[in-house]
Amino acid sequence: MPSLQEFIKDSINSAPAEPVKLSDAVAIEEVPTPALIIDLDLFERNLDKMQTYLRNNSIDLRCHTKMHKCPIIAHKQIDAGAIGVCAATVSEAEVMQTNGITNVLITSPVVTPEKIDRVITLGVDNPDLQMVIDDIEIANLFNKAAKRSGIQLSVLIDLDPGMGRTGIEMGDPALTLGNHIVDNCDSLRFGGLQMYAGHCMHIEGFENRRGKYNHIMGKGAETKTLFEESGIEVPVFSGGGTGTFNIEAGLGLMTELQAGSYIFMDIEYREIGGEGSERFEDFEPSLFVLVTAISKPQQRLITVDAGFKSFASDKMAPEFRDVEGVIFHWGGDEHGIIQLTNPSREINLGDKLPMLTPHCDPTVNLYDYYYPVRDGMVEELWPITARGRSQ
Ligand SMILES: Cc1ncc(COP(=O)(O)O)c(C=O)c1O
Repeated sequence: MPSLQEFIKDSINSAPAEPVKLSDAVAIEEVPTPALIIDLDLFERNLDKMQTYLRNNSIDLRCHTKMHKCPIIAHKQIDAGAIGVCAATVSEAEVMQTNGITNVLITSPVVTPEKIDRVITLGVDNPDLQMVIDDIEIANLFNKAAKRSGIQLSVLIDLDPGMGRTGIEMGDPALTLGNHIVDNCDSLRFGGLQMYAGHCMHIEGFENRRGKYNHIMGKGAETKTLFEESGIEVPVFSGGGTGTFNIEAGLGLMTELQAGSYIFMDIEYREIGGEGSERFEDFEPSLFVLVTAISKPQQRLITVDAGFKSFASDKMAPEFRDVEGVIFHWGGDEHGIIQLTNPSREINLGDKLPMLTPHCDPTVNLYDYYYPVRDGMVEELWPITARGRSQ
């Protein structure tokens, strides 16, 4: 009988992470639905485009794995030039580290003894692990735990960008925490600042987004200056995402970008608008849910086999990639009902069609495997190793 901690460790160690090679390649039409498919050509274009853009602008990429939850994809991002990854939860970090990705920043605070212990356990095997901290008492707890294990844990101070989600208030409160870490926490190493202005990522209209983001990040820059004037070097300023990828360079503040969604994209991001374009099309949707038409309950309706259990549904509805003139209505857990207002093509029972995801991160979390597709064929499956790892 395992203890809870042993069970968690075993389940992470045994979670599938390697590609599952198929004995025979399968045509996309033969894939059982609903299935999460990746268009590999578009995926690779997104990968290269972000890396090239950031390299040309002297910003590192620390891609966020909360979105894809897949060590195979994280390795591809690192091979393409990313310096490391982010994890939103301790268990995502455990999955990444177990599968050979060591440069990991945990971007959300943890405060309870059992999670602090898990972070320290990761740090024992991995000097490149980094943790965010936004509270003096929690810094003390991490310091004690790190000392007990004989390690130096690298920490970034998480700044609240005014979003009110996580982070310490900018200015003097952040500096007080910084001084405390430097002066009183000899088992913590101050690595820099994190500031993720998530409330800016989906502001519609590029100029609108840039204006608001620049204003908010200006306050982050003031806090960085405050640290430096107090004699605390800030070697790393980490944050930003897909929605601000081409705003950061103009600010000159971010040393590393935490972008996640760029690799898959989704409808929510497409709608925010790009620089000089109505839609945000710098990156192309490469992730789709393949669905099958399974019923024609009425003349102008056709039902597909994908509902709330197949698409995360926080705001928008899914859309077909290749069919226009239809409206998607949620039909419950397993069903989506397609209203055929003026369909651009006929949909028959048994047809399999790719749909764009409204929001990629929580949709990915609903699936066990990706089906990567090239030239209409699937040769292997990629396990979504950290799916469900919200702890
Ligand atoms: C802390 C943090 N950094 C980066 C990101 C990545 O953002 P995006 O998927 O918009 O690129 C997120 C996403 O929620 C996040 O929470």
